[in-house]
Amino acid sequence: MESKNVIAQRFFVTGVSLVTSHGPNGKNVMAAEWTMQISYNPLLIAVFIHKGSNTLDNIKHTKKFGINVASEKQSALVSVAGGYSRKEIDKLNILNLFDVIESKKTGLPMIRGCVINAECKLTTIKKIGDHYMVVGRVISIIYDETKKPLIYHRNRYFQIGPTIAPVRREVTVSKGIFDEFCLQRGNKFILKCVGVLVRSKDKILIFNDGHKSSKTIPYVCPQKNTDNKKELENHLKNVKIKIVLKENPQIKKLIIKHKKKNQRVNFVLFRGILKKRSGPLAWKSFKNDLFLKSLVR
Ligand SMILES: Cc1cc2nc3c(=O)[nH]c(=O)nc-3n(C[C@H](O)[C@H](O)[C@H](O)COP(=O)(O)O)c2cc1C
Repeated sequence: MESKNVIAQRFFVTGVSLVTSHGPNGKNVMAAEWTMQISYNPLLIAVFIHKGSNTLDNIKHTKKFGINVASEKQSALVSVAGGYSRKEIDKLNILNLFDVIESKKTGLPMIRGCVINAECKLTTIKKIGDHYMVVGRVISIIYDETKKPLIYHRNRYFQIGPTIAPVRREVTVSKGIFDEFCLQRGNKFILKCVGVLVRSKDKILIFNDGHKSSKTIPYVCPQKNTDNKKELENHLKNVKIKIVLKENPQIKKLIIKHKKKNQRVNFVLFRGILKKRSGPLAWKSFKNDLFLKSLVR
């Protein structure tokens, strides 16, 4: 019987790369699901290869390899590249299977019809567990936008399914609210805010200092990578509002709309308790205010 660990491993999901190489025994291709980009700059790709493979010997010998990310039409190629060793058969020369092009730059055999073709120079090789981590710096890379990657899961091949619609509530807001958030957005695609909801029956505490046109809950747009709760606490202190924030905030993802324009806003929302009626505050019913309603519900 297979152990639980062995079965559990199959529940990971990956793509599959065709790793090409050449060496003392000629040109070769193997399938490797454990392939990934691991650095942007320099662009590095790691592939984890078992010791007994001909591919590992080749890479150790020539210090270069090709990564050809398989497309959804290439499952037959993958199963041969992964099902046989070069020690058993010259896979690249099987009739009508691999469409190979030899790289002028590196002499590596590269596979046509893939999503990505990258030629790599070996930078690191290290034994990790029962595989070798092989890291290469990309010296040449191309991609084909028209191809979709093959997916591997539970020993089977899949195609990418439809995209999942983002979970965002759309809310039509006043010009004042819209302009305020747009102003703060700058060149960011999504504006991140952190705010506090203090509720009393159907009323919500709003910040009302007479300057902001929007008159909505106390909130702030925190600096990147800063503790959101602390940023909000500091903001409340600065505007002299005494609210104690509760733990466990909610996240509300909104698309705010005004006329034909829209803007994505993410709200980290803390519940709060008003300690002392202080600062520029007012109560506002959320029943007729779509924006407040979207924060409450
Ligand atoms: C879908 C699939 C994914 C695979 N992924 C890996 C992998 O990430 N690392 C690895 O060492 N072997 C992997 N293998 C097994 C090798 O491709 C296989 O051992 C191959 O025969 C080695 O070929 P070579 O000896 O000609 O280099 C995979 C096989 C399949 C079918």
